[in-house]
Amino acid sequence: MVSTGSTNDDGRSTNDGSANSGRHPMTGNEMSGAATGGMERHSYDVVVIGAGGAGLRAAIAAHDAGARTAIVCKSLLGKAHTVMAEGGIAASMGNVYPDDNWQVHFRDTMRGGKMLNNWRMAQLHAQEAPERVMELEDWGALFDRTEDGLISQRDFGGHKYARLAHVGDRTGLEMIRTLQQRAVALGIDVFMECTVTDLMKDGEVISGAFGYWRETGRFVLFEAPSVILATGGIGKSFKVTSNSWEYTGDGHALALRAGASLINMEFVQFHPTGMVWPPSVKGLLVTESVRGDGGILTNSEGKRFMFDYIPEFFKAETADTIEEADRWYDDKKNNRRPPELLPRDEVARAINSEIKAGRGSPHGGVFLDIASRRTPEFIRRRLPSMYHQFKELADVDITAEPMEIGPTCHYVMGGVEVDADTELSGVTGLYAVGECSGGMHGSNRLGGNSLSDLLVFGRRAGESAAAYASGLGASRPAVHEADVKAAERSALLPFEVEGGENPYTIQHDLQETMQDLVGIIRTAGELSQSLEEVEAFKARAGHLTVEGHRQYNPGWHLALDLRSMLLVSECIAKAALERQESRGGHTRDDFPGPDPEWGSRNLVLRLNELGTGVDLAHQPLPVMPDELKAFF
Ligand code: FUM
Repeated sequence: MVSTGSTNDDGRSTNDGSANSGRHPMTGNEMSGAATGGMERHSYDVVVIGAGGAGLRAAIAAHDAGARTAIVCKSLLGKAHTVMAEGGIAASMGNVYPDDNWQVHFRDTMRGGKMLNNWRMAQLHAQEAPERVMELEDWGALFDRTEDGLISQRDFGGHKYARLAHVGDRTGLEMIRTLQQRAVALGIDVFMECTVTDLMKDGEVISGAFGYWRETGRFVLFEAPSVILATGGIGKSFKVTSNSWEYTGDGHALALRAGASLINMEFVQFHPTGMVWPPSVKGLLVTESVRGDGGILTNSEGKRFMFDYIPEFFKAETADTIEEADRWYDDKKNNRRPPELLPRDEVARAINSEIKAGRGSPHGGVFLDIASRRTPEFIRRRLPSMYHQFKELADVDITAEPMEIGPTCHYVMGGVEVDADTELSGVTGLYAVGECSGGMHGSNRLGGNSLSDLLVFGRRAGESAAAYASGLGASRPAVHEADVKAAERSALLPFEVEGGENPYTIQHDLQETMQDLVGIIRTAGELSQSLEEVEAFKARAGHLTVEGHRQYNPGWHLALDLRSMLLVSECIAKAALERQESRGGHTRDDFPGPDPEWGSRNLVLRLNELGTGVDLAHQPLPVMPDELKAFF
């Protein structure tokens, strides 16, 4: 069953007191729909919040393990940031380079994350990714092939071997299509355009989730002993981002408010290549596949500038002449990799420096050129979306001219602290997976590792959540009516203030602050200022006004999202101020370079006692066993 909170023609809510009405009748869920006090209620074993790749894969696993499972998603099913992982799924299948194996993938992932990754997650990820790709193919994903019929694998930054299984430059889309089709075919209940605003607890354990239908504004309660957060990232807190409107850090904030902890929040990935022109599409992703397939970066002087930015850490494996870099595409085994394929944090910083030094392109980026290096036929076949994206949105023919690109906020490495094997957070019954979980990618994620991450850990989370729910038998935690009432009151608060501020103004100001003061290059002074500004936004958000009523009211939706955005922004700025070094997706102008002292520590954030902000603590990294250390 796929359900929306639709209204009848007469405007009555179909979800007010009866879940068995409306345009999408509910048929598959015998436990659902009981009306108490006019509110729609459902009961499940496992509720998954979010329907990107991680949420869908988790729901499939929970369902397969016998759990009554529902997916609740804020947007339309299939509209997820997963589709922005265009270039491929990283998995050491060895189809193009037989020397590849999980150990090399593990090593690359740890090095890409500057060794701050949770080693156990990185190990499980590297070991299980190939199996998850094969499974996806069994479920109907149509990957590009090598000449001998194997799944083709492409090059991406930081990966020693070509290891991204791909479908042109639309891999995330194909993954979502496949998983979505499977979830619907299995009969998993889907509640779309439904936002969760609060988690319910019975004492210390999770008992459900409370939310509202975006269309009608009616409230809905999901009773469930297991809740899996799969809400994606936080990009909408920044002005220039590849993320769309959904990515307001909801899962991060729900977890904090339920008593779980976040780690690594200072590490934000700015993808090196987003569109810079026209302004309406600024930040839209330009896939790393362009560089993986031979594209180069040049500045306004025509110089291939990445040779000036090869860090010591990657010197041994990076080509330092154009000739050697170009030879690599023909004979990858014997030559060092082109500097355009350094990990994303290195490339984004280099582009930023070129722009700041006045060697940028006319619209404030640099040039990404594949036209002079590959045939039009090759470009259209390998990069069909990029070809159309630039032609239609910018009137640029990428088979004939270079693109203008610049960094765009793409991904947060930080997220809910979870157990590596089960994805259980610090709160019983609460799991987190995909971008809203932390640890797997350390301080910087390698391209392609997010699609494999969400498959590997989505499955694990779904299985663990189902096992926990089934182990409870009949003694399930209860939802308390007082908590439901409190969640209702809190959600309606923005309607009660008259003459307060417009939520869009606060969102705009927050995005400016995060972009300007907590962006690619950071300093103590700017970070302190950002924290003061976030405090001021929080005060302003306490007095915002929403006009109108609850039926489809985007101002109200934003007012509720802003709570998450502000909490998450505080986490990022606070952790960024605390970490006095530069590492991965956290660069401090006042502390250039990594500091070994910081290399063994995570920063952990928890909601403070009053619930008004976050407290920060230092925590040692889990120690890697000697047999894995041997790979470095
Ligand atoms: O550039 C890309 O295609 C993005 C991939 C990713 O974020 O993993």
